[in-house]
Amino acid sequence: MAFNGEMTAFIGAGVMGEAMIKGLLSRELLAPNNIVAADPRAEHLDELRTRYGITVTTNNAEAARAAEVVVLSVKPQVMDMVLPELRGQVDSVRLILSIVAGVPLKTIANALLNVRVVRSMPNTPGQIGRGITVWTASSEVGAEQRAQAEALLGAMGEHIYAADERFLDMATALSGSGPAYVFMFMEALIDAGVHMGFARRDAEQLVTQTLLGSVLYAQQSGMHPAELRNQVTSPGGTTAAALHEMEKGGLRTVLSEGVWAAYRRSKALGS
Ligand SMILES: NC(=O)c1ccc[n+]([C@@H]2O[C@H](COP(=O)([O-])OP(=O)(O)OC[C@H]3O[C@@H](n4cnc5c(N)ncnc54)[C@H](OP(=O)(O)O)[C@@H]3O)[C@@H](O)[C@H]2O)c1
Repeated sequence: MAFNGEMTAFIGAGVMGEAMIKGLLSRELLAPNNIVAADPRAEHLDELRTRYGITVTTNNAEAARAAEVVVLSVKPQVMDMVLPELRGQVDSVRLILSIVAGVPLKTIANALLNVRVVRSMPNTPGQIGRGITVWTASSEVGAEQRAQAEALLGAMGEHIYAADERFLDMATALSGSGPAYVFMFMEALIDAGVHMGFARRDAEQLVTQTLLGSVLYAQQSGMHPAELRNQVTSPGGTTAAALHEMEKGGLRTVLSEGVWAAYRRSKALGS
């Protein structure tokens, strides 16, 4: 067991914080009385307490003081306010795990006077336990705390450790923002289906299952994506006609440029 009755505090319990809490409880990695969530809105906290039976508070410092593990799960914009509140309250905390985009390990360690920090980049499918997270840790994070970090992140799905923090900005651009690219692709295909004459509900079902089935097929076959694409592309056929137009429109370049733009933005926000 990664946790031994230790208290874990969530500073910010919105979409991602709640996803972690839910995953930890459903996997029985933590009991409700081992979790405290701090968030500014009392009515939201009441909902969380009713739903999960956890302890809640509007006071970040109070939550952090009660915990051995502190998860930072607020939006990046409020970190400037949250870090000073926690300074001096978490000196002896054994692990600080941040899921906040763009805030470097060093910034958190310096602000909180605690060097045992893990920085991670999850994604929204984590809400149903099907996400993927890239994480890194300061050298002071020991084996036991790494196991705790893996348990916390595992509550949202798969995770990959990166020895170099540079990969966190890359992960932000690829897998952190990635669901938005997929949803935009989905939306465009559904609209194309409606444009041809399908009822929207039918177009949605066709596109969703095509994406889901293709991903599972790629995963299970282990074949290269180009090989799988060739299977669908007969000489002089319909797929070849479609792919030609997509290449002409620069689909691959646009995707690549988009990912690079997100990477540059992530680095700029971090500095
Ligand atoms: N969503 C994603 O795709 C994604 C992916 C990877 C990483 N992340 C990272 O995860 C973090 C959380 O994102 P999210 O999507 O869960 O955001 P969210 O739903 O807005 O959750 C943040 C929570 O923090 C609360 N909060 C605001 N000010 C606070 C304060 N001073 N002290 C304590 N709590 C405060 C918010 O309350 P109010 O709503 O009342 O303001 C909200 O409940 C972000 O840093 C983001 O970079 C998000």
